[in-house]
Amino acid sequence: MPRVIPFPDNLDSYTAAMSKPPPAARTAEALVDRFGRTVRYVRISVTDRCDFRCVYCMGEDMQFVPRARILTLEEIAQIARAFTALGVTKIRLTGGEPLVRRNVLHLVRELGQLEGLDELVMTTNGSQLPRYAAELRAAGIKRLNISLDSLDPERFRRLTRVGDLAQVLAGIDAAHAAGFERLKINSVILRNRNDDEVVPLVRFAAGRGMDITFIEEMPLGAIDEHDRAEAYYSSDDIRRDLEQVFTLLASTDTTGGPARYVRLRETGTRVGFISPHSHNFCDTCNRVRLTAEGRLLLCLGQEHSVDLRHVVRSHPGDMERLKQAIRDAMAIKPAGHEFDLHAKPVIFRHMSVTGG
Ligand code: GTP
Ligand code: 5AD
Ligand code: SF4
Repeated sequence: MPRVIPFPDNLDSYTAAMSKPPPAARTAEALVDRFGRTVRYVRISVTDRCDFRCVYCMGEDMQFVPRARILTLEEIAQIARAFTALGVTKIRLTGGEPLVRRNVLHLVRELGQLEGLDELVMTTNGSQLPRYAAELRAAGIKRLNISLDSLDPERFRRLTRVGDLAQVLAGIDAAHAAGFERLKINSVILRNRNDDEVVPLVRFAAGRGMDITFIEEMPLGAIDEHDRAEAYYSSDDIRRDLEQVFTLLASTDTTGGPARYVRLRETGTRVGFISPHSHNFCDTCNRVRLTAEGRLLLCLGQEHSVDLRHVVRSHPGDMERLKQAIRDAMAIKPAGHEFDLHAKPVIFRHMSVTGG
């Protein structure tokens, strides 16, 4: 019989806060696309660089963007200000690995002050958390999503090519000690690589009062290490594995992202599924993403984009122009992705360029 762990105290109020509509004052301006979807969530990639080389995310040899082409932290903050003025309430900082960007804490502190922002959150591989967790929390990050695909050090090394599991586990401990509102594990599951770790990963999360989300691999950028179609392990496969051990309860919880959640009766753990292949979620898409180069991408799985770096550099300080460029971009947000694991990738940028 699995160990019973109580629900985290703040889960209900947290979920209620996430589902509540933003206050009226903030809806005066809203970004609505031509399919009637309102964008309130911006994912900002602060760097395309990373200290890991996860096999599903990157090729072995990567060319990173030269520094001069990367937005400065001030430019990122300016763009974030424009978004919040346009009704965005959630910003997630991503990478590559966001914590390898020098002085990223300055940016976090600046964004932590933004009026209208309910949620400043980050997705990280955890390697730098032993050093930064406490400062991140103090600077205003509320929640962290931490990638963890294996609890076996050898396998972890193979999946990340270079990563040290002990360092990431120490990072997770540091995040706990820092008192984040919620912590979530992200696991990309690949057939015959780590599909046998679904239950141990859930137990790991449950034992620490963390959420966990399982992600289907997406065909972004060329990778040389495995065949994505062969490695496909669907959310339904994972559910079936979990049902051997746990009771999965339907849940309407939302974190404002693409995951659909269940709760485990035995542990209270919230388990999410991000299923771009098996259960497409594009019709409820509420997000856009900014690359480290300042390209506003309207969909993770399409190339429709607007060059916001050009706008901020050719008209420094012109907030109205920037806001108008963002409003105009809504007209080209596509209906959704067309991922096909059996075809050659049609999106050449790797996930590390967009941060997911
Ligand atoms: P929460 O705030 O906890 O809901 O986080 P999140 O799921 O929005 O963010 P996270 O950075 O943890 O992303 C988890 C996975 O979801 C990554 O693999 C992302 O690439 C993927 N993801 C996020 N948004 C989209 C999307 O619009 N389309 C697709 N296909 N995948 C997405
Ligand atoms: N498909 C699905 N998820 C991916 N991630 C990185 N590359 C891919 C991919 N090709 C995940 C990381 C991290 C999140 C931001 O995206 O593991 O958890
Ligand atoms: Fe780095 Fe994250 Fe990509 Fe892994 S998935 S290589 S940790 S950006």
